[in-house]
Amino acid sequence: MEQRHIGDASVGAIGLGGMPMSIEGRPDEQRSIRTIHAALDAGVTLIDTADAYHLYADDVGHNESLIARALATYGGDTSGVIVATKGGHLRPGDGSWTLNGSPEYIKTACEASLKRLGVEAIGLYQFHRPDPTVPYEESVGAIRDLLDAGKIRMAGISNASPERIELSQEILGGRLVSVQNEFSPRFRSSEPELELCDRLGIAFLPWSPLGGIGSAGGLGDRFPAFGEVAEAHGVSPQQVCLAWHLAKSPVVIPIPGASRPSSITDSAGAVDLSLSADDLALLP
Ligand SMILES: NC(=O)c1ccc[n+]([C@@H]2O[C@H](COP(=O)([O-])OP(=O)(O)OC[C@H]3O[C@@H](n4cnc5c(N)ncnc54)[C@H](OP(=O)(O)O)[C@@H]3O)[C@@H](O)[C@H]2O)c1
Repeated sequence: MEQRHIGDASVGAIGLGGMPMSIEGRPDEQRSIRTIHAALDAGVTLIDTADAYHLYADDVGHNESLIARALATYGGDTSGVIVATKGGHLRPGDGSWTLNGSPEYIKTACEASLKRLGVEAIGLYQFHRPDPTVPYEESVGAIRDLLDAGKIRMAGISNASPERIELSQEILGGRLVSVQNEFSPRFRSSEPELELCDRLGIAFLPWSPLGGIGSAGGLGDRFPAFGEVAEAHGVSPQQVCLAWHLAKSPVVIPIPGASRPSSITDSAGAVDLSLSADDLALLP
């Protein structure tokens, strides 16, 4: 698969988002393991997760543990796989999402993620979402401390404004390697962050790149231009959407979620779909 860069690491240009395998509507473990193995078979080497991808109060880190088991049971070489996890979001088990950006919490959360992933250092650790009750500098300062302590190999942030990207770069001493923000045909307001990442050479990981778990299937109906270009190429509208993401900038690495092998196999095919200037002009 075409390679792109996160810091000094190379990863397949299409990643896998783990969230649909661990939150509401999640499949049984066997289907999830087959989905992760299908991603690896297709050349995916970036798997995005978070400690908060779970359902009940007593299964925190469900997705991280699942990914660790899938990697351990894969027949092939997984040494080049980067598992990108996050801390700072919580799910108390009642369906809600809460925040804790305090440095103490982030450091404790990182230790728990290290154990679940069974590694000595996390490949990419991302501050999940700003906590309005904690100064942003303090939260990102905890990520810097984890980097300095060797607990994490690379540092990223998520749900960040351009100002916070610049601030994080300063706090991390130039070691910010990725920004993960929502971006898709239906959610365009992260364009300034994408442009800034392009300028700074920081990887931009669009989350919910197909419009999110409940909407991804209807992408071609909701955005007919994607459906039309897909028909002309004989591929799925989702594949066209991911190729459109890839065409925006070499720093873009989409992380489409999947809970079925066929979804990620199809998504990974986007790297081989080349959209012409005429195709791109049709896509809003
Ligand atoms: N940083 C954050 O705050 C944040 C927030 C949300 C998500 N994320 C990350 O971003 C990842 C992606 O976002 P997302 O999962 O919310 O939404 P998404 O990637 O836009 O959509 C996921 C859904 O798309 C379907 N799908 C994937 N590829 C497909 C294809 N080729 N054809 C048809 N359907 C396809 C999957 O269906 P099946 O389930 O049937 O396979 C899946 O349920 C998450 O998994 C998570 O890792 C981060």
